[in-house]
This record gives sequence, C-alpha cells and structure tokens, in this order.
Amino acid sequence: MRITMVGTGYVGLVSGTCFAEFGFDVTCVDLDAGKVDRLKRGEVPIYEPGLEELLQRQIEGKRISFTTDLKTAVRGADAVFIAVGTPPRSSDGHADLSQAYQAAREIAEAMEGYTVVVTKSTVPVGTGREIEKIIRDVRPDAEFDVVSNPEFLREGAAINDFMRPDRVVVGLSSDRAKKVMAEIYRPLFLNETPIIFTTREASEIIKYAANAFLATKITFINEIANLCEKAGADVQDVARAIGMDGRIGKKFLHAGPGYGGSCFPKDTLALVQTGEVLGAPQRIVEMVVQVNAERQRDMAERIIAACGGDVQGKRIGILGVAFKPNTDDVREAPALTIIPVLQEAGAIVAAFDPVAMEQAQKHLKDVVWCQDAYEVARDCDAVAIVTEWNEFRALDLTRIGDSMRAKRLLDMRNIYKPEELEGTGFLYMSIGRPDVQPAPRDKIRTVSSA
Ligand SMILES: NC(=O)c1ccc[n+]([C@@H]2O[C@H](COP(=O)([O-])OP(=O)(O)OC[C@H]3O[C@@H](n4cnc5c(N)ncnc54)[C@H](O)[C@@H]3O)[C@@H](O)[C@H]2O)c1
Repeated sequence: MRITMVGTGYVGLVSGTCFAEFGFDVTCVDLDAGKVDRLKRGEVPIYEPGLEELLQRQIEGKRISFTTDLKTAVRGADAVFIAVGTPPRSSDGHADLSQAYQAAREIAEAMEGYTVVVTKSTVPVGTGREIEKIIRDVRPDAEFDVVSNPEFLREGAAINDFMRPDRVVVGLSSDRAKKVMAEIYRPLFLNETPIIFTTREASEIIKYAANAFLATKITFINEIANLCEKAGADVQDVARAIGMDGRIGKKFLHAGPGYGGSCFPKDTLALVQTGEVLGAPQRIVEMVVQVNAERQRDMAERIIAACGGDVQGKRIGILGVAFKPNTDDVREAPALTIIPVLQEAGAIVAAFDPVAMEQAQKHLKDVVWCQDAYEVARDCDAVAIVTEWNEFRALDLTRIGDSMRAKRLLDMRNIYKPEELEGTGFLYMSIGRPDVQPAPRDKIRTVSSA
C-alpha cells in the first residue's frame, strides 16, 4: 500500500508518520521547501510531543519520505490524502478551500491507475462532490474515488489520538474505495477502534458538528461561570457535579478565557456559513461564536478592572500565549486578543510561554518577551495565567509576589485554589470562583455593555 500525504502541517505530518508506523510506504508532500528540507533531516518544524522520535524511526526504517514534487509523489499511489489548510475566508468566515482545490487539480494531473483521493482536511459539506468534479474535469477517464475521512486529533496529544482514536469516520459510496480504506485503518480496527462507514456528506458534517458541540460546551460553562461569580458559587463544583451525569460528561467543562486554536474558531464560523448557504441557520453556534469573541476581550477587561480600571504605563505579565498547553500553535489564542487590548489601554506587556513565543512574535508587537514566569512578574502590576502549562502550576508565589509592584494574580485557568492564596496578600481572581480579597469586578466593562 502506497500512501501520499499532501500537506505536512499538524495533521498531514502526524497522520503520515503514524501510517508509516503502521508499516505503509508513505510519501509526504509540501509546497514549503524549507519545511521539507527540515523534515528530510528528521527535524519536526512544529512542537508536538513524541513526534520527532517517531518520525526518526520511520526515516531510519525507510518507510517515509518527503518531497516538494507532488507529481512524483502521487504517481502510483493507492491513496492520496489531502491534509492542506482550510483557514477562514477573511470576507465571510467561510472555509477557504483554495488550497484543497489546488491540491485536487494537481493530484488529478498526476494520478496513475485506480486512486482513492481522501479529504482529511476539515471541509464543509459538499466539498467532496466538488473535488470529485474538479478531478473529473481534469481527467475524464481516470479511475478514482473521492472519500471523506476527517481527522479528530488534538494538538499536544496528536500521536495518541491518531493511534487510539475514539472512532474513525469514513464517508464514501464505492465498495472499491471501502476496501482500500479498510486496509489503511486495519491496524486500528484490530485494536477495536470503531470505524464508521457513512456517506460523504454525513462524514463532512460529523467533523463540524463534533467541533461545534465541543465549542458550545466550553461556551456554556463559561457563561455558567459568569453566573457563579455573580451568585458567589464555585463553577468547579457545578462543572464536577453536572459532568458526573453520563448524558453530559465531564470533558470540556473547564471554564476559562474562551476557546481558541486552529479548529474551533474557524470550524464554528464555517458551520454558520454553511447553515446560511443551505438555508438551515445554526443559531446556537452563531451565538457561541459571538459569546466566545466577547469573552476573550472580557478577559483583558478583567485585568484592567483588577488594576483599578486603568493600566496606562502599568506593566502586565502574561503567562502562556499558546491556545492550550503542549503546543506552539497560537492561532486564535486568547492571548492574541488579550495582549493588544491591554497595549491599546496603555499597558506594557511582558510575556512568557515555554514553546510558543517564536510563533506569537509573528502576531504581536512590542511585547517584552521573558525567559520564565519570574522574569515576567518582575515589577508587574498584575500577572495573568492565560495558558495552563504544567510549569505554571507550582510557581513560587512568594517569589513572584515579592518581585511585583502590586500583588494581583488573574488565574484564567483555575490552576490554583483560592484557599492557597489566602493570607498571601495577593488579590487573586479566577474564573467562576470567589475572589481572594474582593476584586473590583464592578469596574469590568464587558464588551457587550461597552
Ligand atoms: N491542527 C489540528 O489540530 C487539526 C485537527 C483536525 C483537523 N484539522 C484540519 O486539518 C487541516 C490541516 O490542518 P493543519 O493544522 O495541519 O494545517 P497547517 O496549516 O499546519 O498545514 C497545512 C500544510 O499544507 C501545505 N500545503 C498547502 N497547499 C499545498 C499543496 N497544494 N501541496 C502541498 N502542500 C500544501 C502548507 O504548506 C502547510 O504546510 C485543516 O483543514 C484543519 O482544519 C486540523
């Protein structure tokens, strides 16, 4: 079985490496020659725990190779996976499918013999049909099938998610393609992973419905957290108790600064767009998108309020800029909204992230980048924990507090317990829990009321 992976981002590289680990002969293609050169040397251009070791094993075993030459990579492949980016179109939030369509045209020109073209990128319902049409237009006589196989891996836990997924979803209508896909996923099937064969349309919708549901769950608990703050309740108790209900489940019930990342923001937007185009408005998801955007800005307002309503000339420390721990991905990260709002209000922002600073520097200006949390805290008027990296969970708070100008800690991930901060002199604000020292929340100017 020869597999070609078009696009070597988070999804293409992890999938390609894992398919090679299953024993298949994998060729990965990318337009980015610099990335391909690094990959050929066994260097992983992204931060993903365990990936470099796994990749090096495949290179040593000669099961994986990298190229910029799509035509050679596709020629003779049994299955060609499209794993290119599908970012939101800036005009309307719809998924920008130009990379996927371009890849389809190039694949069509190069395919030889029966080929299964598999869309692994997250694409709106109907895209598989369009890709089939593109390929048919270029190569009217070619033997091929277009299959949908969305990916559910999470950055930071990508290898485990790929190797031990909750389920694999495959959308197709041909028995011939089904045989190829069943062979590709046979190693997982032997591990008793459920493999759902369905139509291409259902498969495309499944990916968006899953992400939109999870984004809704996060947004729901964030609003419950607001209620807890007003009522003097602890959202962690609420989340724990409702999560014990098997119908609800405990995951994705952590109140925080709003979801970010490369998937939820763009996939919720794209689902809203698809709903509009097809005349089936996704009103719940529309509201989730709006509430989440407000929440990220509201986090900056909380910091300003904690500083007495004015941060002009004040130094604010930010711990964590990645959208979540164990990744260097900063796409749509809450920190990327919070930091510019603070800067606009006149604050000097100092920040540290264990791995994502290089990525964040491409999006943020005038940030004082530091070596660690302690350097960030020095002379600060407030420090905010925005990403729950493990190394922020056991900070020496005495050392942090002693070096600050004013002892204010905003824990946007609830990684400390209010009791731990009692008597330390810190003004401690977390999410959906009682403050330690009454914090001036009345000064919070939420975006909606601004
Ligand atoms: N990142 C995630 O956690 C995740 C999880 C599940 C699904 N997805 C989906 O998977 C898709 C890819 O996401 P990603 O995060 O890996 O993207 P990415 O932007 O990290 O990588 C995409 C890669 O494709 C390459 N590329 C674009 N056009 C090409 C072409 N014609 N030929 C060869 N290479 C080409 C780019 O150079 C880039 O390296 C998206 O649709 C995304 O929504 C992502």
